[in-house]
Amino acid sequence: MTDLPIYLDYQSTTPLDPRVLAEMMPYLTTKFGNPHSNHSFGWEAAAGVEIARKNVANLIGAAPEDIIFTSGATESNNLAIKGMAYAAYPSKNHIITAVTEHMCVLESCAALARNGFKVTYLPVGADGLIDLAQLDQAITPKTSLVSIMAVNNEIGVIQNITEIGAICMARDVIFHTDAAQAAGKIPLDVSAMNIDLMSISGHKIYGPKGVGALYLRPKNIQPLALFDGGGQERGLRSGTLSPALCAGLGTACKIAKQDMAKDHDHIHNLAKRMKSEILGSLDGVHLNGSEKQRYPGNLNLIFDGVKGDALIKRLRNIAFSAGSACSTGRAEPSHVLTAIGLDKAQIEGSIRIGIGRMTMDQEINYAADHIIDAVKKIRTQL
Ligand SMILES: Cc1ncc(COP(=O)(O)O)c(C=O)c1O
Repeated sequence: MTDLPIYLDYQSTTPLDPRVLAEMMPYLTTKFGNPHSNHSFGWEAAAGVEIARKNVANLIGAAPEDIIFTSGATESNNLAIKGMAYAAYPSKNHIITAVTEHMCVLESCAALARNGFKVTYLPVGADGLIDLAQLDQAITPKTSLVSIMAVNNEIGVIQNITEIGAICMARDVIFHTDAAQAAGKIPLDVSAMNIDLMSISGHKIYGPKGVGALYLRPKNIQPLALFDGGGQERGLRSGTLSPALCAGLGTACKIAKQDMAKDHDHIHNLAKRMKSEILGSLDGVHLNGSEKQRYPGNLNLIFDGVKGDALIKRLRNIAFSAGSACSTGRAEPSHVLTAIGLDKAQIEGSIRIGIGRMTMDQEINYAADHIIDAVKKIRTQL
């Protein structure tokens, strides 16, 4: 018998890896110094921050000095998008993104649009991927930045990051990618992929909440800082760093790099089993987004004739999310599922199952059996 409730919402957040907590603890207790102080307590804390910076950089093939610590991917995305757009303004006033981006990217772009910038929102196909020719056509001499996420948080599809990077480089446009759902899960290399800016989040990779990073390729253009203050993080992100949170993110990145192949196999096998059990027992089940180009820990499925919310209500011992859900819990149809062409009934019938490092075999068995049973019961009540 498996312990209940079962957590299958790994895109929303992940549990802290105990190895991460162990590395954080000294910075919450004895090594409590301000990393910006010029004495032994400060130097000790600063040394921890620099080890963390190296570990983050190592995960994505970057140099440590090109990593800036932030409070999470929301802040990294805001700094990358608004900071770069304002730095290039007024000679360039156009940015490009995709309709399926996370709300913090879309809202950053909307804020720029309210302040006189032009924003192109690229559509996606039924597979959730942007069209590369359309991206190329959308770039004008006024375009400063392209921001396209690596892995989508709702449907798990992986955009063609290397090809997007190549287009941006050829057209001399800055390329930012929101890699909150990708870093530590799929191999990423900022040089090979021509990525100029990359956003990372701690709590999506078994690290703590409240910390993230922004990779920033050294270029002749720097983003405009969004915070004014003591000038920490090369003046780009003022405020006292938390050595504990930095150590947590750094350790999470180190473990993710070390265990990436093992995690991937584990997650791929569990997802394959979950999918084949569900598809083998039920008709009218469809996978949302590209089947081939996806992160396996995300199973976003439509169950014909069943509302995701009704499934959640019946399955209180299993934590997963419905297609209508969004970050703040507003019951609005998902903009991502709408963008891949689903109608209202299909969106309402979608659920996202998130599988991760800590998911166990027996949890998949329990969840698959109970989801199948609940879908059958809901369908017979129609
Ligand atoms: C793709 C994506 N970008 C950005 C974020 C925001 O990350 P954070 O919670 O670190 O601010 C998330 C988290 O939901 C995400 O999935």
